[in-house]
Amino acid sequence: MQYRTMPRSQDQISCLGFGCMRFPTDSSGNIEESTAFEMLNYAYQLGVNYFDTAWPYHNEQSEILIGKWLQQVDRDKVLLATKMPCWLIKSQDDFQIYLEKQLEKMQTDYIDYYLLHALNKGSWPAMQKLKVLDFMERAKADGLIRHIGFSFHDSYPVFKKITLAYEWDFCQIMLNYLDTHYQAGRNGYNLAVSRQMGVISMEPLRGGKLVSSLPPEVSRIWSLEKDRQTPLERALRWVWNLEGCQVLLSGMSSIDQVKENVRLADICMANTLSESQLKRYQQARREFIKRIPILCSECRYCLPCPAKVAIPYVIGTYNEAIMFNDRDRHKREYELFIPEPNRADKCTNCGVCLTKCPQHIDIPKQMRLIRDYFSS
Ligand SMILES: NC(=O)c1ccc[n+]([C@@H]2O[C@H](COP(=O)([O-])OP(=O)(O)OC[C@H]3O[C@@H](n4cnc5c(N)ncnc54)[C@H](OP(=O)(O)O)[C@@H]3O)[C@@H](O)[C@H]2O)c1
Repeated sequence: MQYRTMPRSQDQISCLGFGCMRFPTDSSGNIEESTAFEMLNYAYQLGVNYFDTAWPYHNEQSEILIGKWLQQVDRDKVLLATKMPCWLIKSQDDFQIYLEKQLEKMQTDYIDYYLLHALNKGSWPAMQKLKVLDFMERAKADGLIRHIGFSFHDSYPVFKKITLAYEWDFCQIMLNYLDTHYQAGRNGYNLAVSRQMGVISMEPLRGGKLVSSLPPEVSRIWSLEKDRQTPLERALRWVWNLEGCQVLLSGMSSIDQVKENVRLADICMANTLSESQLKRYQQARREFIKRIPILCSECRYCLPCPAKVAIPYVIGTYNEAIMFNDRDRHKREYELFIPEPNRADKCTNCGVCLTKCPQHIDIPKQMRLIRDYFSS
């Protein structure tokens, strides 16, 4: 296994991290425990030492499963990461309450890497108001957590604000060859590296879409390369090429995926992609971007919508469906992640959003189109 050094802690950390959000499940959504243990054991035996879970994963069952698994292995050889569910914190007392519950669920006395989960421009001020960092430092001094970080889903300016507010040990950001200018993006990565923060990449395969849903234009670009790498290897290689990224977190849903990703983690080194290879990634990215049908920047100026349509998320899901040429998968995501009262069909054509959208998108017209697309 390839190990990298965390800048502040000097922990030797496996460059492949196990994302515990995508275990195989049965028809009721319960984790298939024996297969999950087989996957975790295989990764552990081959040197993976970073395991990332969170309160909500698998209907709150992921931390419990990890707790059971930790009883079978040498706890000292595991770097355990989990996250405070910021959206459930309503008072200062809740910080301690949730941390204690997490320690109990995972049957452990300490968490190695503790993150504020999914910070954004709304949750960060709310956490600051409750003096979250005072709590985190107390928990660190008490030995309950070892390193303080955050995971992030918002724009770069928000990332910058959060990053500069504290001497974080590490951050977890979306990093893949497509999203260099999305969310924290490459600017966020550069900023984190310049502040000696560890960087953990999440969604390196865009949830699997960079493997299974490549549009023909992108496949054509990759076919110009002589090396015959798989789409999987291309995507993972791009992340591992970043030397300031210590861990690529992979959500794996079968033992074969674990085996293949462990294999690749041994051979994909930092700073090994040539200029011409990096240009090819840019070409592939451009082909993806050309396919985006609605040029929404997700600035959210259109909100609140009087009819409560979640306009940016509706447009975002539609854009992805077209970009990845995969309606069925995105229809499932649309129905799973956007509650019924907030979907495109609830648009009343009132036109309030038309005066607010800086991109001058005809939002009511697009809502009709998206409604038809996902209902057909
Ligand atoms: N903190 C946060 O806010 C946050 C948000 C997202 C993720 N995360 C963490 O980051 C981890 C990584 O994100 P992610 O799960 O979205 O990662 P990802 O690697 O982008 O996507 C995971 C999916 O990629 C596919 N995949 C993985 N290995 C493969 C292989 N060898 N061959 C073919 N397909 C493969 C699988 O799709 P199929 O199942 O379709 O086969 C898998 O479910 C998560 O598991 C979680 O721990 C954190």
